[in-house]
Amino acid sequence: MASELPTTFDRPVHIAVIGGTGLSRIPGYTPVAALDLTTPWGKPSSPILILEHGGVPIAFLSRHGAHHEIAPHEVPARANIAALRSIGVRSVIAFSAVGSLREEIKPMDFVIPDQIIDRTKGIRPFTFFEGGVVGHVGFADPFDAKLAQVVEKCAAAMKGDVTLHSEGVVVCMEGPQFSTRAESNMYRSWGGSVINMSALPEAKLAREAELAYQMICMATDYDCWRNTEGEDVDVAMVMKYMAANSENAKHLVGAVLDELAKNDNTDLVLAKHWEGSAQGAVKFM
Ligand code: ADE
Repeated sequence: MASELPTTFDRPVHIAVIGGTGLSRIPGYTPVAALDLTTPWGKPSSPILILEHGGVPIAFLSRHGAHHEIAPHEVPARANIAALRSIGVRSVIAFSAVGSLREEIKPMDFVIPDQIIDRTKGIRPFTFFEGGVVGHVGFADPFDAKLAQVVEKCAAAMKGDVTLHSEGVVVCMEGPQFSTRAESNMYRSWGGSVINMSALPEAKLAREAELAYQMICMATDYDCWRNTEGEDVDVAMVMKYMAANSENAKHLVGAVLDELAKNDNTDLVLAKHWEGSAQGAVKFM
């Protein structure tokens, strides 16, 4: 489909969705362009689709590539964030499949994390600040509380259809192998709620780019701590739950976008509260 679409779009796009495993189309939103961009940090994971609903454009980027060909440790996160920033994006809703580290977070539940524990191995390029550009951003609260409130409100409006946990600690591991049982139990003892391979360095780079960034997690498994026969996580299990719950995921993301598109959310979407937080040090255009 992307190949038949115009390759330019002449208005700024302020809102983006970075889609993870299983979330590639959003109900109500029509593709109007596919931008094939190159940034100083290389090409993003996929062409950026511009989707429109009610005259409001949003950008959609498939984190793992258009055909899911990019492993978590290979995601070109700097190019992804830079490409979005270069077309005017200021607010990002990032979606991710996660393993649950808590009994009460069941497969198919949604979690709006408010904290991250970094268990990546430092092999992913994780900053824009290098090569003479020096900067340090605050990262005590890695997600955007205002965007989180919007997600919470939209999930509540979906009533019985979704179970949403409005806080949680996401452990971001390197992968691509899943955790050992000992590691999984250790993350539980550290207070981890869910685990994925995608929150970082994306969230750090979004902060350096002065974007408002909030991840929505969807549990697809209980990781391996639960030690129930035949239930250790594997890719088939992640895909099965993702497919089973993809309608809810798409409706939740669609509702969040509709809410953000409202005029009274303009300042939030433009991330006015993050303006200057990284001294505007990196040039994305
Ligand atoms: N993504 C989905 N399930 C996961 C798990 N158990 N560990 C790491 N990443 C995941």
